[in-house]
Formats: sequence, structure tokens, C-alpha cells
Amino acid sequence: ASTLGASAAQSGRYFGAAIAAGKLSNSTYTGILNREFNSVTPENEMKWDATEPSQGSFNYSGGDRILSQGQSMGAKVRGHALLWYQQEPGWAQSMSGTALRNAMMNHVTQVATHYKGKIYAWDVVNEAFADGGSGGRRDSNLQRTGNDWIEAAFKAARAADPNAKLCYNDYNTDGVNAKSTGIYNMVKDFKARGVPIDCVGFQSHLGTSIPGDYQSNLQRFAALGVDVQITELDVAQGGNQANIYATVTRACLAVSRCTGITVWGIRDSDSWRTGENPLLFDNSGNKKAAYTSVLNAL
Ligand code: XIL
Repeated sequence: ASTLGASAAQSGRYFGAAIAAGKLSNSTYTGILNREFNSVTPENEMKWDATEPSQGSFNYSGGDRILSQGQSMGAKVRGHALLWYQQEPGWAQSMSGTALRNAMMNHVTQVATHYKGKIYAWDVVNEAFADGGSGGRRDSNLQRTGNDWIEAAFKAARAADPNAKLCYNDYNTDGVNAKSTGIYNMVKDFKARGVPIDCVGFQSHLGTSIPGDYQSNLQRFAALGVDVQITELDVAQGGNQANIYATVTRACLAVSRCTGITVWGIRDSDSWRTGENPLLFDNSGNKKAAYTSVLNAL
């Protein structure tokens, strides 16, 4: 096939992009989006600060705009993200203890209920594990409400939207390392105890190299009985960019439970990694070598 989405669909997978509501009036942007992708993720519009700017007062305008764009394309919509220690609204940043825990669970329930039946997969919890060698949780006000906050969030999300796949999503999990193993152990424990979890997202914000065990790391999670998804792929520009994109694409295709790939933006100028040119289209919307490399690998 001649587009990313149609090529991914040949093996039953999707190829998605993170998109921004504020860019949907740009015709170069929407031209590429409508042509190439069959999944969308809101880059910011479904985050806590956007959806609940003051406590108990919900604003779904940006998220709904992304949802309707996805629906108009016949695309999957990935929900991102119900609970994350970044982009918390100010009122939540200053909360703790039982009051925060209750606010967290209410947030999960309200947002998942608003989008019930519309979301393919939710990143229920984003970036809860620490970097480095500890393999443990990241300190945050969310974590300080008690170690069970993650499973409580997954249970609340399942109750609110039983048909959405529920994912744990993180970065620096691009091979077998202390952080990915900490997450692996949590998922294994959740599966053993019946905590509802369906998928693990590998953000895959990559530099100029990729660990040799990228695929086998995906495979060990899949063997636990969860889907895996590449959720925020971008790769620093450099001699290896096209090869690294192809390696990630081939790894997903080699793992039967890898259901799809999402790139974190469309053109280099849309990327959050300013100056790194990490995406598949240049600033003018032209296909880069990395694009051709992915298409050939799909
Ligand atoms: C980024 C967005 O791309 C930026 O626009 C925003 O300013 C900060 O967040 N991990 C994630 C994403 O899970 O939500 C982040 O997105 C990038 C890192």
C-alpha cells in the first residue's frame, strides 16, 4: 500500500500520529493527516490540566475536537492520559493525601465516562516509574497517595469504559533495563491478581541509537498477556534516523501482540523536540527518508 495507515492495516495494525487541535486549520497538516494515518492521539487536549482546569469543572472542547477529527477519518483514537505527574492542573499540584486520591479517581471516572465507547485505548497512567537503576516508582504527589494508586486508576477506568483497552505508558523502556523490568513486574502482578490492564505503551522517544533488545523487550511484555503499542515514536535526526525507524517498525510487526505505532507529531516543525527534526515529514510536509524506510518496513 502507498500510505502508512493502509500499509499497517495489511497486518491488522494501525499507524497513528499525535495531533494538536490548534493545527487542524492548517491544510498541509490535515492533508498529510487524512492521507497517511488511521489512528490519532491528542498531543495535549485530553490531559488533566486541559480537561479539568478547575476541580470538578470539566472542559472537553479540545479533546472532543480531536475525537471528531479521528472519527471523520475512520481512525482509532488513543486517549492520553488520565493520570500523569506532569500537566496536572494547579489545583491538583497543591493537593495531597485522601483529597488528592479522591480527585484523581473522580478525574479518571469523569473523563473515561465522557469518552465511553469512543476510545480504542487509554493511557490510564503515564510515566509512573523512576529513571535509573532503582526499578521503582517515581516520586510524585500521585505516588504519595499510596502505592495502590495505579491499580485503583485502572479499576476506575474499567468501570467507566469497559470496552476501552487500558494501557500503562512510559519512556526509557526501549530495552530490558531496570525501569522496564520494574514495569514488567507490575504488569505481571496485575495480571496475576486480576487488576484490569490490557496493554503497555512504549513511548520510544529515541536518540541516535536503539537498544539491540528492543523487540525482545516488547515480546516479554506480550508474553504476559497484554498488547503492546509504540505510542510516541520520534527519533533524533542523524545518520541512523531512517534505520532506527525501520528497526522499530520491524520489531512491532514481529510481535503479534504489537497492535500499532504512533509517531509524536507529523512534520518536524510540529515536534515537541525543537531542533531535533525527529519526525517523518519535513517542515514543508515533504516525506523524509525515514518515511520511506517505515513504509518499506510495514
Ligand atoms: C508533550 C507535548 O508534545 C508537548 O506539546 C507538551 O508541551 C508537553 O508534553 N511524554 C508524554 C507526552 O507522554 O504527553 C509528552 O507530550 C511528551 C513526553
